[in-house]
Order: sequence, then structure tokens, then C-alpha cells
Amino acid sequence: MSNANLNVDGENMEFPIVTGTEGERGIDLGKLRASTGLITLDQGFVNTGSCQSAITFIDGEKGILRYRGYRIEELAAKSSFLEVAYLLIRGELPTQAELDDFRNTITIHTMLHEDFRKFYGGFPKSAHPMAVVAATTSALATFYPDSLNLDAKNEVEICTKRLLAKLPTIAAYAYKHSIGQPFMYPVNEMGYAANFLRMMFATPCEEYEVDPVIAKALDLLLILHADHEQNCSTSTVRMVGSSRANLFASISAGVSALWGPLHGGANQAVIEMLQRIESEGITGKQYLDRVKDKQSGIRLMGFGHRVYKNFDPRARIIKQTCRDVLARLNQQTRLLDLAMELEEVALEDPYFVERRLYPNVDFYSGIIYQAIGIPVDMFTVLFSMGRLPGWIAHWTEMHRDGFRISRPRQIYTGATERSFVPIAER
Ligand code: ACO
Repeated sequence: MSNANLNVDGENMEFPIVTGTEGERGIDLGKLRASTGLITLDQGFVNTGSCQSAITFIDGEKGILRYRGYRIEELAAKSSFLEVAYLLIRGELPTQAELDDFRNTITIHTMLHEDFRKFYGGFPKSAHPMAVVAATTSALATFYPDSLNLDAKNEVEICTKRLLAKLPTIAAYAYKHSIGQPFMYPVNEMGYAANFLRMMFATPCEEYEVDPVIAKALDLLLILHADHEQNCSTSTVRMVGSSRANLFASISAGVSALWGPLHGGANQAVIEMLQRIESEGITGKQYLDRVKDKQSGIRLMGFGHRVYKNFDPRARIIKQTCRDVLARLNQQTRLLDLAMELEEVALEDPYFVERRLYPNVDFYSGIIYQAIGIPVDMFTVLFSMGRLPGWIAHWTEMHRDGFRISRPRQIYTGATERSFVPIAER
């Protein structure tokens, strides 16, 4: 193992360099403060590794994404969402018997306790579904207090299955509540994505015929979102979990982190941006001129990524699926055309080239969701359904490998000590 030397005030210190299986290197500064009194300051954790993990590998320079060693392109072409969930959480691809068993046990947990109806009834119809999903996921802990012991493997296992099984039901109920339609019970013989589509779009008066092409496209989107190593929401799940909070509470925190427009909320922001451009009747180039004007505070949503500085491999796969879905549904392609125009102009523009800004996973996903009939408010909810296995895999890995409570430090910049002034004298 090699070391890094750090010279502080003339004194030389050595810190071990840790090397990952793909050759990534990091300086282990775990003893920095104890030996020097100094901390590292790294706003936004741009250079900070918070853990070692064997789940997902990303090479942002080369546009590589692999789950447990398998390329995302291959998983997208050959696998299914539940198989990928198994891979992420358990570490290996399942045999047919293992996958059947996994699928069956998830399928028998899809129903929500009937008392959840009262719970949903308390939310205003106008509530954002991400708020409803975060609250309902957290509320699972109130309905299943029998499975919250982190040290009991079987209880963590049942929580995992309940979450995977119930999140589509929770999500579809959030939508049904917002439009005042009756909840549709899950049908356990249907596939994961098909069942979700039915719960979203069927009513007791009218069945919804699930188009297998659309169900497949949705399954693919779930696969592409399933994990992305230490992103904001996954780091949140790990951080909350590090206090030994239960899995439901940790996942609920992840849902809340995902809601933000700089993270999972970007796919909603992309559609809103495209609709605005369309309604204003401006060209893609004119919009990009606004984006480049820093005073405007506008960003090209769906562009740029903290890690990918080349291209986001998920965006390429989604772009093709987007074309297929629109063709299948015989739908107008005006938003897709506009998105492609923006992409083309941006990729030639020095502002985006110099900053290495490329389309990310969210640039095209919203167009598919919209074509399928998913309302804009629900886009991020679908992202959370996709990301769930990744969150669970990280939470489980952390508990298996051992951890300390996450507790960053700070450099204090406030007032130095001063005396309290009574209110009458201020
Ligand atoms: N449009 C215009 N300019 C951008 C964009 C964008 N989408 N993204 C980054 N920039 C510019 C910044 O203004 C900055 O310019 P400067 O150097 O002149 O100050 C430079 O590029 C670097 O940007 P940062 O914000 O420092 O990059 P960071 O890694 O912190 O942010 C992020 C990454 C949040 C994804 C950013 O690119 C962004 O806001 N994109 C739009 C939102 C989006 O699509 N989010 C989804 C991300 S993927 C996901 O979460 C699933």
C-alpha cells in the first residue's frame, strides 16, 4: 500500500492511499484530525469518499456505469427490474429458481393495509405526490413495528420485500388520491411495471389494457435508475441509516432528498422547460442564450452531472427508447424534437463544451413518462421506484460491513464569544 505525504506547518505526515478494484485511489484521512487538529473542507463532497462500496462503478470520464460489474447497456438489453434489484441487493445474479422465489415473495406483499386509506384521506388533493410517498413510506414503520430490529436479518429481509412490493402501490394511490379516483388493488399475477400501470390507469368501471411495449419501456427506465453510487439521495439513506434508524425511515429520507429539482426533480423540470420554450415560441438557441446569461439564473435542465463529464450512458439508452415509445403510441414528437434541437445546439456551444455538460438521465425520461400518460408531478415518484433497490443495497451493505455514525465537521465562521445583551438594551 502506498502513502500520501502531507506537510503541515513544516511537519511531515503520511496517510495511506486506498485503491479500489478499478484502480480508483483515495487518501484515507481518518486519522487526520487526531494527528494534526485539521479537518478537510470539501463543500458538496466533490472530492470526498464517504465509504468503500462494492455495488456500483461509475467512470464519469469514460461514460461507464456498471452494477455489480455488469454494464448498464447489457442489463438494459437483457435483464428485468426485479432481476436487477436482486443483483444490487444480494450481489449476484439470481438463478431462475431464486428469481422466481424473489418475485413471488415480493408479489405477495403488494397490498397496503386498509387503514392506509384513512391516512391518504388526510392529505389535501393538491399535495405533491413526492410528499405523499415520503410520508407513506415513513408510515410503513407505524404499520409494521414487528420488523424494525436492525440486528434481525429476517426482519430487514421482510422490510426489503415490503418496500419493493408496496412502493408501486403507494405511488399509484398517491396519484389516484390526487385525482379523486378509487384506489385500484394490485394484481399479483402481473409484472412489476405492468401492475403499476394498471393501478395508475384502470378504474373499477374500466379495465386498462397494458401495452407490453410500454410496460417494457417502464421496466427499462426503472433499471436505468436503480443505482448510482453515492448520489445525494443514496448518501442521505446511508447518513440516516448510520444513526441506526430503521430501513423505512431511511428510505423515506431518500425519497425526500430525491424530490429536489437538482436531483430527481430534474425530469419534471425538463418537461416544464420544454413546454415553456414551446409556448413562448422561441428557438433552442434563443433559450440557450438565456441559460448562458448567468444573471438569468436559468439552467439547461437535464444537462450536466457531478460525475459524468463525458456522456451519461443512461441518456443514450433512454433517447432510443423515447423514439420507440413515441412511435408505438403514434404520438407527436414535438417535445422530443425540441429536446434533440437543444442537445444538438448545446453540444456545439463553447459554454457547454468547456464545462463538459452533456445530457443526463433526466433529459429524455420525462418525454417517455409524458407519452405514457404519467402526470408531470409523478415523474420523480417513478424515479424513486427505480432507485429503491439501490438505496436498500447501500443501506444493507453499510450495516453488513460496519459503520460509524455520519457526522461531518465544519469550519466555524460565526461571531466569537460575546456577552448576552438584555432585550431592553438592544
Ligand atoms: N445549465 C447551465 N449551466 C450549467 C448547468 C446547466 N444544466 N450545469 C452546470 N452548469 C455550469 C455552472 O453554472 C457552472 O458554471 P461556472 O463554472 O461558470 O460557475 C459549471 O457548469 C459547473 O456547475 P456546478 O453547478 O458547479 O456543477 P455541479 O457538479 O455542482 O452540479 C448538477 C451538477 C447539479 C447536475 C448541475 O449540472 C445542474 O444543475 N444540472 C441541471 C439539473 C439536472 O439536470 N439535474 C439532474 C442531475 S442527474 C440526477 O440527479 C439524476
